[in-house]
Amino acid sequence: MYIVQIASECAPVIKAGGLGDVVYGLSRELELRGHTIEIILPKYDCMRYDHIWGLHEAYQDLSVPWYGATIQCTVYCGWVHGRLCFFIEPRSQDYFFNRGIYYGAKDDYMRFAFFSKAALEFLLRTNKRPDLIHCHDWQTGLVPVLLYEVYQWHGMENQRVCYTIHNFKHQGISGTDVLWATGLNRESYYFDYERLQDNFNPFVINFMKGGIVYSNHVTTVSPHHAWEAHHGEFGYGLGHTLHMHQHKFSGILNGIDYEVWNPEIDLYIPYHYTPAKLKGKALNKKALREKLWLRDGDKPIIAYIGRLDDQKGVHLVHHAIYYALHRDAQFVLLGSPTESAIGSWFGHEKGFLNDNPDVHLELGFNEELSHLIYAGADMIVVPSNYEPCGLTQMIGLRYGTVPVVRGVGGLVNTVFDRDYDEQYLPEKRNGYVFHQTDNSALESAMDRAIGLWYHYPDEFQKLVVQGMSYDYSWNYPGKDYLELYEHLRHK
Ligand code: ADP
Ligand code: GLC
Repeated sequence: MYIVQIASECAPVIKAGGLGDVVYGLSRELELRGHTIEIILPKYDCMRYDHIWGLHEAYQDLSVPWYGATIQCTVYCGWVHGRLCFFIEPRSQDYFFNRGIYYGAKDDYMRFAFFSKAALEFLLRTNKRPDLIHCHDWQTGLVPVLLYEVYQWHGMENQRVCYTIHNFKHQGISGTDVLWATGLNRESYYFDYERLQDNFNPFVINFMKGGIVYSNHVTTVSPHHAWEAHHGEFGYGLGHTLHMHQHKFSGILNGIDYEVWNPEIDLYIPYHYTPAKLKGKALNKKALREKLWLRDGDKPIIAYIGRLDDQKGVHLVHHAIYYALHRDAQFVLLGSPTESAIGSWFGHEKGFLNDNPDVHLELGFNEELSHLIYAGADMIVVPSNYEPCGLTQMIGLRYGTVPVVRGVGGLVNTVFDRDYDEQYLPEKRNGYVFHQTDNSALESAMDRAIGLWYHYPDEFQKLVVQGMSYDYSWNYPGKDYLELYEHLRHK
């Protein structure tokens, strides 16, 4: 099969969070299974060019219709750790992707509407006719809309679209200007509850809703989150749309890439290890302490790695730091704030805790350091408010770092409480789960994890090994996506 992914991230060249990991990891898995994959991305000025091989101009004069005129683009091509990627660079005064950021500009909706249009125009002009187009999140929600309403009339009538939603909270909201810009000119037709009109604000259009309505199939990134989004509050207003399209909506659990996340071969960690030979993990713990100026000693290290965003339960992350210290544990945080208020809050904490030898707060994005933390820590906390899938708990498991998580979204499908799980026998359990969003719920789970580490080290070790034996690679999800693609192709 010939599959094209259209996305705003692909790790490690463009990565703000898990979306990047998924686009890369799924593509690699599909390729290993013998399929042809190409990935279309924006050419951001701030992406990690050191991870692209053989970058060159592939198409010089792509004219993308925009507001009744055109914007000229250059399309570059290169390999990101073996994956063939096309990077679209518009040559216009808007500097859509030359802002030093991936997201967070006032006109993000225009930037990604343009990208969606340009990606389809690129496929059209270069005669690329994939069996399947897989697009992701609000940034590419307009791809299926444009394909169905415009591009199928230009010879792209056989392309099927799978649309994966990684985060329902960000939906891509805009006024009519986007319709005019992209050539979706019949305003009243698109401003319809059945099509792009937002479910709650009748004066705006909603990209993600368009993605749901127009694609051949919609997935989200875990079965439990599919249920929550459809039936609960985490569809963020799109529950009814999902309900109307439930026949084509499902949850497929993400995987993690076992070439990238593998303590046996990871190039970013000084000591390699396996479940049978865990000595390397202890040495990485020492290396982590040295790197972050933490004192040596007989204490567990608890980590948090992730965006610092309301989604992630930042108040509980904050509480976890102080509770760990109170319980004689060490804490390492690697967090990228998504809002300035959260950034200054944690910046302040960092200043306050600067001289404490049991804690290190690292603010910002640091791929290399994240690997060492996964390898060197004993536990990882994931106290999210909502979590469509969550990769950090799965990576933690792979590195023998016991997850302590809130039972929500994909965390429910991946972490099974050592003491209370009802699904698995004790020898299959892999972490700790709490349910409420208050401090004491978090404390009760951390308490059990820290208690086991101090008082029953052999039992803790057993839990580590049980976690490492789970297969959260792309093996199963890769199969699931392929079955879905095949089904769509023959529909
Ligand atoms: P989300 O996509 O909601 O941010 P996930 O758990 O799905 O959360 O994926 C997060 C990914 O991003 C993981 O690979 C994690 O290691 C990485 N990550 C998150 N924040 C940082 C950071 N500050 N530095 C390095 N890696 C990070
Ligand atoms: C989103 C979600 C996260 C998920 C990731 C990859 O950013 O917040 O839960 O793991 O996408 O699908």
